Amino acid sequence: MTIQAETKWLKDYQAPVFEVINLDLTFELSPTQTQVTNRMVCQLAPGQPLADMLLDGESLRLISIKLNDQLLNEVEYQLTDTQLRLPKVLFANSSSPYQLEIVTEINPQANTALEGLYLSSGRFCTQCEAEGFRKITYFFDRPDVLTTYQTTVIADKAEYPTLLANGNLVSQTDLSDGRHQAVWQDPHKKPCYLFALVAGSFGCLTDHYTTAEGREVLLEIYTEPRHLAKCRHAMDSLIASMRWDEQRFGLSYDLDRYMIVAVDDFNMGAMENKGLNVFNSKFVLADADSATDVDFEGVEAVIAHEYFHNWTGNRVTCRDWFQLTLKEGLTVFRDQEFTADMLSAPVKRIEDVRRLRSHQFAEDAGPMAHPIQPQSYIEMNNFYTLTVYEKGAEVVRLYQTLLGRDGFRKGMDLYFARHDGQAVTVDDFRLAMADANQQDLTPMQAWYQQAGTPHVKVVADYDASQQAWLLQFSQQNSLAQAKSEVDKTPLLIPIKLAAFDATGQAWSSSFLASAAQDAIAAGQLRLIEGEWVYLLTAFNQTLNVKDAPADLVWSLLRDFSAPVILDYAMPAAARLHLAKFDTDPFNRWEMVQQLVLADLIAQVNQAAATPTADLVVKPSNEVVTLFTSLLTEALAKTAQADVDWAWYGYALNLPDMSYLIEQFNPVPIAAVLQVYPAYQRAIGLALVDLWQQTYQAQAAQLSSDYAYNAQAIGRRLLKNRALQAWLASGNQQALSAAKAQYQTQAHMTDVAASLQGVMQWHEVAAAPLMDDFYQRWQDQPLVLDKWFAWQAGFGQAAGIAGVDALLAHAKFAWTTPNRVRSVLGSFARINLALFHQADGAGYRWLAKQVLHLDAINPQVAARMVVPLIQWRRYQPKQQRLMKQVLEELKGAIQSKDVFEIVSKALVD
Ligand code: TRP
Ligand code: ZN
Repeated sequence: MTIQAETKWLKDYQAPVFEVINLDLTFELSPTQTQVTNRMVCQLAPGQPLADMLLDGESLRLISIKLNDQLLNEVEYQLTDTQLRLPKVLFANSSSPYQLEIVTEINPQANTALEGLYLSSGRFCTQCEAEGFRKITYFFDRPDVLTTYQTTVIADKAEYPTLLANGNLVSQTDLSDGRHQAVWQDPHKKPCYLFALVAGSFGCLTDHYTTAEGREVLLEIYTEPRHLAKCRHAMDSLIASMRWDEQRFGLSYDLDRYMIVAVDDFNMGAMENKGLNVFNSKFVLADADSATDVDFEGVEAVIAHEYFHNWTGNRVTCRDWFQLTLKEGLTVFRDQEFTADMLSAPVKRIEDVRRLRSHQFAEDAGPMAHPIQPQSYIEMNNFYTLTVYEKGAEVVRLYQTLLGRDGFRKGMDLYFARHDGQAVTVDDFRLAMADANQQDLTPMQAWYQQAGTPHVKVVADYDASQQAWLLQFSQQNSLAQAKSEVDKTPLLIPIKLAAFDATGQAWSSSFLASAAQDAIAAGQLRLIEGEWVYLLTAFNQTLNVKDAPADLVWSLLRDFSAPVILDYAMPAAARLHLAKFDTDPFNRWEMVQQLVLADLIAQVNQAAATPTADLVVKPSNEVVTLFTSLLTEALAKTAQADVDWAWYGYALNLPDMSYLIEQFNPVPIAAVLQVYPAYQRAIGLALVDLWQQTYQAQAAQLSSDYAYNAQAIGRRLLKNRALQAWLASGNQQALSAAKAQYQTQAHMTDVAASLQGVMQWHEVAAAPLMDDFYQRWQDQPLVLDKWFAWQAGFGQAAGIAGVDALLAHAKFAWTTPNRVRSVLGSFARINLALFHQADGAGYRWLAKQVLHLDAINPQVAARMVVPLIQWRRYQPKQQRLMKQVLEELKGAIQSKDVFEIVSKALVD
């Protein structure tokens, strides 16, 4: 089979020919034969010459078309697999506006791709973003066609007692035949990707919110009735989000009702449909027994994210899908700021930067690298990426760094004042920021157009005769293929900086002001919200700091002020100095991590140079000393109440293995796989008493009652980090402590930490606990996902047969993305020893499963194949094995989703 792989280009964008005045949809729901009646009123867009009307549609059975009440004959229009064409002659004699009525039939039960209208556990739901509406009815499936919707839902009343759609409920009536109907009206114009419909049997948690203007909003969360008690946290998160958006951005909700529906079968996290969000139940349901701290944080962040989309996404939407980061980068930035305010700002920053470096940097260095505003795509679903979302959020953060919070708020206010109700571009956003602050932000443009992670190199020299520091900055685009004009443009890179003297005192900002007058006069150094921000705007630029002492240690890129790789060769002593004295908690953490990372890299290089089975891996003295002092410091504070415990937890953790892998090209994977766990063991062993004491001290402070706040979360994080390290040491007492923690069953955070740790370090001892866990949780899908994920991610003993057994398990389901991710995703991203085994069996296993999944759910299959596409970064033997399975896949797969990823990975 040859794949129809048409590439769509941003440069080909054309404004819509027709506009839709309103849309009236009627659904007569049935699992296999749902009838959709689409009545739309449309007219030529102003200034457009009459042309054929092209409507998108896929997997639809067309029943009839009427134009102005006249039934059209088959010869009067043209139908393909993806399009309905109504020739312009049809409109030539009729007066505008035109009334179209299109009746189609669809089969939701057969829809395992989970795009369009589908069934999840017997409940109807929809997913339309990006281009799923075309699987519901013929329409202009593009975000710049906005209209008002009225939706009538008709279904059997006993089976589907709840009938929901966007907007406000107009009426609900029983029909004579056991069916009932609900009519919903959404007064806000929207593009069709924000359409939603839900029908089924649900429980509902209700609450209320009064907006700043005093309007009452009904809040509803719908789930399977048995999960109702797990919705409180989601509801509290929603209320907190609504309040936060009013306080921080002056944005209030705009309908009488806000509904969230949780479903078990969902391709992504959640969807911001107007007034009717549909969620992966993973991001709604949480209680202490069944959800970890990470799960609770995920619920809070995703609930906030979707709520924030109501303004940044729905009220102001995207002109076309190349603008996706306009809504996603901005909304991720907003949810990051929200979480920072709810919990710990430095810890949130650390978590986000970790994710960016471990995953987005890899994407940006691989064959799918793209700018946050891509120039082209084959399958849009493949561009809901870490780059568009997370790097996009970093680019939005740059505006706030450059303009300050107040300036950023002014820009947001102007953005809404200008563009409410419109479908716009990233340039409109940048212009609003610029105009509101009377600044020229043209230099920001290149951030939208360049792929790859920029490198910033810094050389700091001291000139003793002049008593001056010279900081030489240079920037470089990291992509070898960077060759277009836009890639040759330097970026505007704000670098927050400070300096600390030998005693650890911050070299005060007034000194810096007088010492760097030239740079200040030139506009290259600015004091923004109390921080010095150096603006790197050229490829090479030097900052001259006069009358400065020789013993300064420079703290650069504080708070990770730009999404770049900083190449700054610091002596270990300088890193240790900042790890102790830096006033920026992010950079303190960064210094600790850099020391450990440098140590890990050195040991991997050594192992790769002289391969041996009995390699001795030992953390450097600096690392041991630093960890000792951090653990001692945290222990001394144990009883205090105002400590950022999670900061210690993250500082005392190792950089992710995937971030370590990022540091090599080619990656000596065997050496990494040998060194990393050995290093974990050695760090555990070297500090075994301190890990034990930390574990016990924090455990003594924590009550077994679950509380969701930064203090308790942080203590649990540090405690469980200590448990991990203690377990890694091989210590038997640690194993007993972990088992006891499991048996206590205090809450899922502790249960998961103990079980995962035992699984990772004492796989045999884990077996009875895993069985017990299964017995307890087999009927709770979200918890059972963890059981699958731990085995796929950490099971080593049974090799590939172990993951095959998971696929054969009665509770495995190819049609449930969460379940698929918990096995395929955990295997390829976490169980790197099995995935990268030398004979290539891990690669072949993954490819085989991707091929199977491709026929069921292409969108998820395209995600699962990604670990294979980094093949060029590995050594020749591994390269050949990975490339071979990719080539075989390319010849066998059916979807353009997987085709795009695999074929781009194989381009020479
Ligand atoms: N717009 C959604 C969000 O980020 C994500 C999304 C895009 C999505 N496409 C999807 C969710 C398909 C589910 C399925 O909030
Ligand atoms: Zn989003």
